Parts: sequence; C-alpha cells; structure tokens
Amino acid sequence: MDISTLSDKINYTLSTLRYGENPAELYEPIRYIMSLGGKRIRPLLVLLAAKMYDEDVESALLPAAAVEVFHNFTLMHDDIMDKAPLRRGQQTVHEKWNANIAILSGDVMLVQAYQLLLGVEQDKLSQVLKLFSKTAADVCEGQQYDMNFEQREQVSIQEYIHMITLKTAVLLGFSLELGAVLQGAPAADAEHLRLFGNNIGIAFQLRDDLLDVYGDKDKFGKQVGGDILSDKKTFLMLTALEQANQEQLQTIVGWRSHTNESIAEEKVRAITQVYDQLNIRQQTEQQIELYFQKAIEHLDSVQVPEGQKAVIRGLALQLMERDS
Ligand code: IPE
Ligand code: IPE
Ligand code: MG
Ligand code: MG
Ligand code: MG
Repeated sequence: MDISTLSDKINYTLSTLRYGENPAELYEPIRYIMSLGGKRIRPLLVLLAAKMYDEDVESALLPAAAVEVFHNFTLMHDDIMDKAPLRRGQQTVHEKWNANIAILSGDVMLVQAYQLLLGVEQDKLSQVLKLFSKTAADVCEGQQYDMNFEQREQVSIQEYIHMITLKTAVLLGFSLELGAVLQGAPAADAEHLRLFGNNIGIAFQLRDDLLDVYGDKDKFGKQVGGDILSDKKTFLMLTALEQANQEQLQTIVGWRSHTNESIAEEKVRAITQVYDQLNIRQQTEQQIELYFQKAIEHLDSVQVPEGQKAVIRGLALQLMERDS
C-alpha cells in the first residue's frame, strides 16, 4: 500500500466525520478549517507506523483522524495568538468569524479528538489516552514558551529547541507511537518511532521557520514574514542575534516591538537583509539536516525489515525539502 492509497483512506475517513450542527457558529468553523486540507502528515505517520506491524490499518483510521482534528484545533488557536491572517491560502477562522468563535470551536474540536480516540480497543485505550493527554499538555506548554519568548531579549538555541519540541515535535512523535501501539508493536520499537518523530518534528519546525521568511506565499499558504513581524525567537532570529555585528544588531533591536501594519513590509525587508548577510538560510538548512540524521538513527533502530521502513524514510526526506 503506497502513500497515495493511505492518503485516500485518510481523506475518506475525515470526510465521514460529523462535527455537529447547532449553533452553526460553533460547528461551521470546524468544517471550514478541516475543508482547507493541508498536508495531513500526522494521520499519515499514524498509518505508516501502524502498517509496519500489520498490513490492515483499518482500526487505526479513526485514531489517525483524531490526531488531525487535534492538530487543526491547535492551528485555530495558534492563529489567534499569532494574529495570522492566512491559513492554507484562506482567511483564518478568527478573521473570517471572530476570536471568540475561534476559541470555542477550537475547544469543541479538542473534545471531539478525545471522542474519536475513545473507539480504540479496550486493552489499549488507557495507554493511548495517557500518551495523548501528555502530548496535548506539552503542546500548550510549548505554545506558552513561544509567546513568552516574543517578549524576551535573550533566548538560547537550547531553549528554542525545547520550545519547538513541545509545540510541534511531540505531536509527530505521538502520531508514530500511536500507530505502533495500536498494532501491538514491541515497546522498544514504539519508543524509537516516537523519537524518530520528535527529531523529524524539530526539523519540520525549523523548515517552517525558514519558509516563514523565504517561502512563496502561494505555496506556503501563510503570510510570509509573520514571524519577523511578531518578533518570534525563531532559529533564524536567534542565530542572527548570535552572529550580528554592531550595525546588524542595531537593525534587529531597532525594529523590535514595531508591529504596526504600515511598516510591516519595511521591517520584514530589513531583517531579511540581515539574515541574507549572515547566511542564515544555509545555517538553518544545516540544522535541519542534523535533526534529520538524528531521526534516521532512531528509524534504523526499529526492529522491522528494512523494506518496511522505506516509505516512511522517503516521506521524512520529502518533509525536509517541502515548500508548503
Ligand atoms: C503547521 O503544520 C504548524 C506547524 C507545526 C509548523 P503543517 O505544516 O503540518 O500544516 P498543514 O496541516 O499541512 O496545513
Ligand atoms: C505552530 O507553530 C505550532 C502549533 C500550531 C502548535 P507556528 O505558529 O510556527 O505554526 P504556523 O506557522 O502558524 O503554521
Ligand atoms: Mg505559533
Ligand atoms: Mg502560527
Ligand atoms: Mg510558523
């Protein structure tokens, strides 16, 4: 079974989900954000891990859908926090409706993610709910650090990696672990798959930070320069702060806290110019490669025949090179 067959299964399963009807303002935003698509990589990781242990992935479909619903909930709330105008090339929920609607719709999506997981076989249910709850709390912690760091002048690369591990990577790790656990994989394999996912997740967020500056808006589907505008302490920003000369430092610090729409373009241009001068793009790409290699070491340690890892290996590579 190849990736496109698995993707079809995921899309079909998602299309069968019923979120609710009234009040329309609560449920319509869910249908809206879920209909905007996205790469759907988390449910794909669930199924790919599951498939390593059993060709029949049917019982993993609803849990995989749960992860995608949870992911979309985090995006809905993240866009409020990041004041993002665009998601998947369309208006964000809080812009199309309002922030209160995005908060409440997001809340009910989190509940629905749990409801979807409740269908897991009885003997695995408590383990799955425990792992999922821990992951969900980690994402909240990461998101809070992300916001705290906007206001902070000094953030170490180590703190940044910790922050993105929580806000992004653990969900990819959980997705793989979930697939393995559902099919009764040995505990050591489930653990290696989780760590493979965590490292891929770190590389994935580094790539996201890179695309936020150097991406093509039409492919990326999000506002380009958003992280610069909101003073996010991304890997790019922290590396630039570390390596900037006096003049470059003045440029960066001088633009801090300027979030006014009218100077947005100028701010993004000025900071990007400093990144260009310091070769930040290449340095970020090297860092992505490093975490990709760490991830591969864990995949290598999974005790299944090499042939069964090929698809997942290929997908990981694709994710590192993505432009959307
Ligand atoms: C966006 O996730 C949020 C991050 C963790 C960077 P994706 O890049 O997977 O978004 P979609 O689901 O494909 O739109
Ligand atoms: C988001 O990080 C992580 C979560 C949604 C939990 P970003 O804020 O960088 O994600 P995008 O760029 O808005 O998708
Ligand atoms: Mg964010
Ligand atoms: Mg965001
Ligand atoms: Mg981003």
